[in-house]
Amino acid sequence: MDLQNAEQRITEIRSMLNHYGYEYYVLDKPSVPDAEYDKLMQELLELEEMFPALKTADSPSVRVGGAVIDLFVKVEHRTPMLSLGNAFNEQDLREFDRRIRQAVGEEFSYVCELKIDGLAVSLRYEDGLFVQGATRGDGTIGEDITANLKTIKSIPLRLRENATLEVRGEAYMPKRSFEALNKKREERGEELFANPRNAAAGSLRQLDPKIAASRRLDVFLYGIGNTGESGVAAHSEGLDYLDRLGFKTNQERRKCATIEEAIAFVNGWVERRPHLPYEIDGIVIKLDSLTQQAELGTTAKSPRWAIAYKFPAEEVVTTLLDIELSVGRTGVITPTAILEPVKVAGSTVQRASLHNEDLIREKDIKLGDKVVVKKAGDIIPEVVNVLADQRTGNEMDFHMPTHCPECESELVRLEGEVALRCINPKCPAQIREGLIHFVSRVAMNIDGLGEKVISQLFAEKLIADVADIYKLTGEQLLALERMGEKSAANLLKAIEVSKDNSLEKLLFGLGIRHVGAKAAKTLAQEFGTMAKLATATNDDLIAINEIGAKMADSIVAFFEKDEAKELINELAAAGVNMEYKGAKPVSVEDSDSIFAGKTVVLTGKLEQLSRNEAKEKIEALGGNVAGSVSKKTHLVIAGVEAGSKLAKAQELGIEVWDEEKLLEEINK
Ligand code: IVH
Repeated sequence: MDLQNAEQRITEIRSMLNHYGYEYYVLDKPSVPDAEYDKLMQELLELEEMFPALKTADSPSVRVGGAVIDLFVKVEHRTPMLSLGNAFNEQDLREFDRRIRQAVGEEFSYVCELKIDGLAVSLRYEDGLFVQGATRGDGTIGEDITANLKTIKSIPLRLRENATLEVRGEAYMPKRSFEALNKKREERGEELFANPRNAAAGSLRQLDPKIAASRRLDVFLYGIGNTGESGVAAHSEGLDYLDRLGFKTNQERRKCATIEEAIAFVNGWVERRPHLPYEIDGIVIKLDSLTQQAELGTTAKSPRWAIAYKFPAEEVVTTLLDIELSVGRTGVITPTAILEPVKVAGSTVQRASLHNEDLIREKDIKLGDKVVVKKAGDIIPEVVNVLADQRTGNEMDFHMPTHCPECESELVRLEGEVALRCINPKCPAQIREGLIHFVSRVAMNIDGLGEKVISQLFAEKLIADVADIYKLTGEQLLALERMGEKSAANLLKAIEVSKDNSLEKLLFGLGIRHVGAKAAKTLAQEFGTMAKLATATNDDLIAINEIGAKMADSIVAFFEKDEAKELINELAAAGVNMEYKGAKPVSVEDSDSIFAGKTVVLTGKLEQLSRNEAKEKIEALGGNVAGSVSKKTHLVIAGVEAGSKLAKAQELGIEVWDEEKLLEEINK
């Protein structure tokens, strides 16, 4: 076949695939058997492989998932992605209605929609072409997940009109896909997803789009970022417009003239919810007219013209088999209810935290009781209450111990606290939990080093403190249960990568009392380096807005301890970064900058720019400036007399620029 014939055939196949795909995935009305679609897709893939010049960004072949990406680039949302205020009962809804009437009078209508339980996504189209898809992130800055979103077959790669717009919606995993996925994971001995929402979010956060492609995700679009010139005057018209453009919107929407009609819609769905093929967690009620929406405006967090009615959490009854005690990293003893396994809100629950002794007394919980269980926020299992009238007389009172279940030292209750604590600093449970905290996602984020591996390493005395993690060898890891060559190698890589984390991750990981993730970030930003923070006085600390006296005391006390000093020296010697990297978010406008999402290391003496200027410029263009060269480094800028870092970069085959080239790129 020659190029011309191939082009013709490719155009033909693409048009058929787009048409069949639209019928199947958007309209839910397939007109050809799956095998036919698959056969055409195969032919297209083969032709594109033979004639790579004919590949396009909107070819349906991208649905199978393209190349693995290195990392998710940050994306700034031009219009913030807000969340919704919640209503939990009819009274809340009537109160919302009262506020609306007060603002716009009596002439208005609502649109009621299903609240899809997935994750919010933003899709940008330019001249009808899908160019960028992002997560919500913190509402202002999300992550670019275009490659993964392209695998969702109901997301059009090209619109039916050449519109330029941003649309928003919810990506989700249908119940059947979720069940099939978990079944497969169970067979393979992999960890199960707690619910379809987590599974959808997990799938879209994979660096390999082929994984997302295999997960059978779907989407419903429910809004337009900026209606601009589209001539749309009401939300309902916007949804119809989205339909015309080829998007998948949820058809179970209803225009309601009054809040009573909206309440009837809500109540109808309380009954019908279990029969839907996807999870919903409520009903969204929106004021229809865009002019009226603008009159009401938004708060910093959510629009005043809409509200989400949240369905009450499902409650089930089960038996409390036992109460287990665990020692946390700060020594707090937490009782956990061990339950007869029971299915609630989409997954099986067998444990629920009971928090502390007071709560056990308040709820009058006895061993053997029948208890009502729900998932708070549909995620965290919770014992709601006890069914005391179902007691048989065999139930037993529960008493908290007087001594630590792990190290047997006497427990204390600190003044003003409800918790019982083990205050032995050498308590192995506390040390182990501290190690688990250090490697966790929120702290140093060492992939593959979870609770189980840490517990084994600790039990085998291979690690006693966090610095020991950086001394682990492949051999030591291989000796662990269920650890293969590949996992061990990956783990070592993940440990290596963690050395480059910005200071706040390390600070939080160290588990300094009262220093949470947010405070760690503030401290890293304010002081810039561990050395500066370590020598900060109480006054220096309190001078910072978000740092109170209690935290300041705790920080000073921490850095005064010899063990802490030694630990930090050891970590630094192992190559763990001790500086704040302050990666600035990349805005949509400059996400195509050559530095976007790249980790850059500066070495040697720069002549025209100071180190700091270079750093600021690179960061402003979306780059990250790191202190040391590792496999994660994308680029090294070598000035005069560059030494070992340059050598290492060359050894690792990392791109190296001189200052000239840097200036050229910065000034582009
Ligand atoms: S409207 C300005 N409509 O619910 C807020 N949101 O906190 C625009 N969601 O994560 C949201 N279904 O992604 C809207 N039909 C629907 C929705 C919906 C699900 C999600 C949304 C956000 C959360 C709201």
